[in-house]
Amino acid sequence: MRAAIAGHPFSRRALFALAARAGVGAAAFSLVPRDLFGGGQVASTGKHARLIARAARPVDFETPVELLDNFITPIEAFFVRGHMTAPAVDAQAWQLAVDGDVKTPRMFSVADLRALPAVTVTATLECAGNGRAFFDPPVAGIQWRKGAVGTSRWLGARLRDVLAAAGGAAASSTHVWMFGGDRPLGTQPPFVRQVPWAKAMDPDTIVAYEMDGRPVPPLHGAPLRAIVPGWEGAYSVKWLQRLTVAPKESDAFWVASAYRYPVGRVLPGAAVDARDQAPLMGLAVKSLITQPLDGAVVPAGRLPIAGFAWAGETRVARVDVSVDGGASWDEARLTGPVHRFAWRRFEYNAVLRQPEVHTILSRATDERGHTQPVVPRWNPSGYLWNAPDRIDIAVGHAPAGVPAPAIASEPPSHETFDRACRVCHDVDLSAQQRLTRDGWSREVDKMIRWGARVTPEERGPLVEFLTSRWGVR
Ligand code: MTE
Repeated sequence: MRAAIAGHPFSRRALFALAARAGVGAAAFSLVPRDLFGGGQVASTGKHARLIARAARPVDFETPVELLDNFITPIEAFFVRGHMTAPAVDAQAWQLAVDGDVKTPRMFSVADLRALPAVTVTATLECAGNGRAFFDPPVAGIQWRKGAVGTSRWLGARLRDVLAAAGGAAASSTHVWMFGGDRPLGTQPPFVRQVPWAKAMDPDTIVAYEMDGRPVPPLHGAPLRAIVPGWEGAYSVKWLQRLTVAPKESDAFWVASAYRYPVGRVLPGAAVDARDQAPLMGLAVKSLITQPLDGAVVPAGRLPIAGFAWAGETRVARVDVSVDGGASWDEARLTGPVHRFAWRRFEYNAVLRQPEVHTILSRATDERGHTQPVVPRWNPSGYLWNAPDRIDIAVGHAPAGVPAPAIASEPPSHETFDRACRVCHDVDLSAQQRLTRDGWSREVDKMIRWGARVTPEERGPLVEFLTSRWGVR
C-alpha cells in the first residue's frame, strides 16, 4: 500500500525501511543489531566497540561503512580477520626466523628489523571474502558484507632487505613461505602462506612493525606482519614468525586448498576441486559509497556523493555514479592522495529534487579496462565480490520513532554441537550461514577433517540439527 508521508508520494514501508537502516529511532552504536540486513552485533568491548562482530572467537570484526569515510582508516575502526587464536605476544622477545635457501639462516628481533632501511607503504587491505554475504547461492564462511576492507600506512623493512641480511637467497628460489604465530584450533592446519619470488622482491612488500604510526596492534599481528600490498588480505600474514625461502610451492593447507579461485567459469553452487583452482593474487576492481549512508533520508537539493575505489595492483581509471538505479551513469571526480596500492577517493555532486526513494550506484573501472560486473563470478569460497556498490536513500523527512528490532539470541542446545563445535567458535558463526543440507554436510565433514570430535553415528543427527536450525532451502 502506498501512503503519503509529509505529503510525499513514496511508500510508507519503503521510507520506514530506509529509516531503520539509517538507525533512526535506535541509539547509535548500541548493542542491539546495527547491521539490520546483515545480522551481526556491534562489538561491545574496548577499542573495537564500534565494529560489527561477525564472530567473537576467533575474532572477526567488520567495519561499518560509516567508519570508512577517511582515506586512512583509524586503527580502532580497522576490520579484523583471524582464522585462529591470536598469540600472547612479548614484542621485546619476539624473534622472526629466516631460513631455507638463504646463505646464513638467522633470527631477527624487532630491533634488528628497525635497523634495516625503513619504508612506508600506504595500502588498502581487503579480505578476499569481503562481500561473501551477497553471493547467491550462499557460500559457507564469515558473512562479510561491505566492511572487510581498510587503508593504513604500514612502516617496516623490505622483505628483500631482510633476505639480503640473511646472506641472500639461492638462485633457484621461487617462493617465500610465511608462517603465522597464531594458535590453530583443534587440528586446524597452522597459518602458512607463500609469496612468489617476483612479488617477494617488490620494494613495497614489507615486514611491518608499525601501523599508522603505532606499533602493530595485537589483533593486527603484533609485533610483526607481512604486508603484500595489492594482493588479497590473506597474504599479509600476521604474527609473522618464520620466513622460509624455497625452490618450490608450499603444500600447506592455506596455499594448496584455501584462497583459490576457479580457473574457468563454474555453475553457481557447484563443488570445485582445488586442482581446478589457482591461487588468488590481486584484488578485483571495486568501489564503496561512504557518503551518504545507505538508508539516509536527505533534504531535496544538492547531494554530495563520495567513496573509495580500488583495484589491487592496478590503478583506478574512473568511477561512474548512477542516481537512478543504473539507468544512466555520470563520471565522478577522482580526488585525494594517490598511492600505488591504496584506494582512490571519488566525489560526485548530484541534485535530487524529487521526493522519492533513489537507488545510488558506484561503478569503478581500472586502467586495464576492467569494470565492476553486474553479476560477479560465483565461486565456491565466495571470494572477490565486486558488483557495483548500491545504497538506497530517500529525499524527504524521516518518520519519527522507528523501533529497533530485538535480536533473537536463544542459545541452541544439541549435545554434539555444544561439545564438538562450540569448542572452537561461538553460535554466531553458525547462525550467520545460509547453507542447504548439502552445504552443512560438507562443512561438518571439513570440521571433522580438522579434528572436530564427531563420531560417524553423531554426524547425521548433527547435520540434521544444523539444517533445521540454520538451514535454507
Ligand atoms: N595472519 C595470520 N597469522 N592468521 C590469520 O588468520 N588472516 C589473514 C591475514 N593474515 C590471518 C593472517 C586474512 S584472511 C586477512 S584478510 C588479513 O590478515 C586481515 O588483517 P587484519 O586483521 O589486520 O585486518
